[in-house]
Amino acid sequence: MIETGLSGRVAIVTGAAAGIGRATALRFAREGCKVAAWDVNDDATLAGEIEQAGGEALVQRVDVTSAESIAAAVSAVKERWGAVWALVNNAGVLRDQQLVKWKDGELLGTMPDDVFDSVINVNLRGVFLCTRAVAPLMIGGGGGVILNASSVVGLYGNFGQTNYVASKAGVIGMTKVWARELGRYKIRVNAVAPGFIATDMVKLMPEKALDMMKARTPIGRMGAPEDIANAYVWLASDAASFVTGTVLSVDGGIVTGT
Ligand code: NAI
Repeated sequence: MIETGLSGRVAIVTGAAAGIGRATALRFAREGCKVAAWDVNDDATLAGEIEQAGGEALVQRVDVTSAESIAAAVSAVKERWGAVWALVNNAGVLRDQQLVKWKDGELLGTMPDDVFDSVINVNLRGVFLCTRAVAPLMIGGGGGVILNASSVVGLYGNFGQTNYVASKAGVIGMTKVWARELGRYKIRVNAVAPGFIATDMVKLMPEKALDMMKARTPIGRMGAPEDIANAYVWLASDAASFVTGTVLSVDGGIVTGT
């Protein structure tokens, strides 16, 4: 059993109403954390589930693309609990489309501006806005941990995902910059690169693509949201106190298998 030292500490999880974010909010609750669960979507049952899991809950409607929305949520967290120990920048969206679609000598279409911008806005700019708003609170509290959702496709690219891959590779870059800038304030910054995890986001992918991914995964299965939640908890814990500026792949070995 690893001593996490997380009991009583405050964790903010973005995109906490579904998938990996929900599992992560509940996993931090199991460690006895005070959990601020942020999402654009309401979730009527999440607060109760966090409390039942052993945590304290503050479920907040937050759009990570809006600095105003984030500022209001941060003030509420500060008022209720003071400092923040962990920020998990998990909120993310997917809008796949090829850069150029060409068939039988004809241009069928290209990725529109809004398809590119909307994904960058949530997955990259959202991580920047949340971290910029929360880091001062961590510094004031004497330290903390920032954890960013990247993806294996941010490491090796993926067909049809110009926007998504750009955002996930960008998150790795920001992780490394912030590890350098914030280490002096005892803030560790790491990214997690999940492989294919069974959530609603992945269920939107074509079945053929999913079967191909499973076949290329040495462990031979898709991941569960809890696999990623466990990684976030470990990285946020005192057991990982010398880990910063890194990208932890939690992917059943898919990068190796590719
Ligand atoms: P999901 O689609 O199940 O949940 C994402 C959550 O983010 C939703 O509750 C949604 O409402 C919320 N969200 C979306 N836009 C938001 C905004 N502007 N402000 C606040 N919340 C917002 O996604 P999933 O699969 O749980 O993924 C979570 C993270 O992990 C994402 O960043 C994703 O890119 C990343 N990831 C997921 C993988 C997977 O296989 N599921 C693989 C690699 C990375």
